Amino acid sequence: MTAAAHSIISGLGRNVPDKVLSNADLEKMVDTSDEWIKTRTGISERRIADDGVTTSQLGIPSAREALKNAGVSPKELDLLLCATSTPENMFPSTACSIGHGIGAGDCPSFDLLAACTGFIYAVSVADNFIRSGSANNVLIVASEIYSRIVNWKDRGTCVLFGDGAAAVVVSRSDVSSGIIDSIIHSNGAYGDLLTVGGVASRRPVAGRAIEDAGYFLKMKGNQTFKVAVKRMTDVASKLLEKNGLTAGDVDMVIPHQANIRIINAVGKSLGVPEEKVFVNVNKYGNTSAASIPIAMYEAVEEGRVKPGDLVLLVAFGGGLTWGATLIRW
Ligand code: ACO
Repeated sequence: MTAAAHSIISGLGRNVPDKVLSNADLEKMVDTSDEWIKTRTGISERRIADDGVTTSQLGIPSAREALKNAGVSPKELDLLLCATSTPENMFPSTACSIGHGIGAGDCPSFDLLAACTGFIYAVSVADNFIRSGSANNVLIVASEIYSRIVNWKDRGTCVLFGDGAAAVVVSRSDVSSGIIDSIIHSNGAYGDLLTVGGVASRRPVAGRAIEDAGYFLKMKGNQTFKVAVKRMTDVASKLLEKNGLTAGDVDMVIPHQANIRIINAVGKSLGVPEEKVFVNVNKYGNTSAASIPIAMYEAVEEGRVKPGDLVLLVAFGGGLTWGATLIRW
């Protein structure tokens, strides 16, 4: 009998734009202050993609790095997923452009849109393709250019987001470790809390008519905050319980980096001490689907996640969507 297939994260990559937009820069653009942004969100600065850079171009270097670290060639990929809510076109999908860019041949590719929960959704899909025997190597690229869909006149949202990309290779392993389990959810009843009417990042829109037509990101921040804390805590607790684990077993929580107060509230509700909750929202703001893999990359780079550690990923986003993944690193 062949051993049951499991999936492991075999490689990680990251690519963030060089251009930094600080809170001081934002003070010159909208009526805000460094103090307000830091106190309410924990964000000090965020990265902004250069004009003309597309979502696939931002993602490709992270994909190449992840493949190199995994020792997997693009031709060995069985599936390529791009987790993004800022695709560069409606079609061709950003995933297809990334596949072409890295030389993945005829590898099946598609975009997965679950806003800030996109990476967790993609990990769940990759894990299931591998467990079912349909794939041995899956590339997930989370790439976001929110700077093209935020309304730079709306101080309530423009201070929150940033651009960035990260990638992971998920590979089949016959050893029973790696990705343990995921739970994903959505509920369209909360759809109006966070919306983008329609825009593709390759053609940023401008002008009053377009603003009125609802192209830009809109958010009911206060309500989103409350739902986010509850849903993230619930799904993380449910996932731990389902796998016979407790918060005390977790070595590192890597939450979606939307707001330091949401992160702290989730850590507190779960009963995980602050030093076991990874935070880099101060450097990047909210990079949506890219936030967890960027944080994961940095947690590993800084030696805060080591082989054998139990890692809990947890996210929420527009949809609303939410979910969690447990990984034995
Ligand atoms: N600078 C200064 N003042 C501001 C700013 C700003 N950038 N933005 C809002 N304000 C003002 C408001 O106008 C309001 O003024 P008022 O009292 O005179 O009306 C005051 O600050 C307080 O506003 P609130 O919205 O009540 O502030 P709150 O403490 O809720 O913080 C925030 C707002 C940061 C948006 C918070 O609600 C939040 O982070 N919510 C969660 C949002 C989130 O995480 N979204 C990501 C979703 S993930 C995805 O899928 C994209």
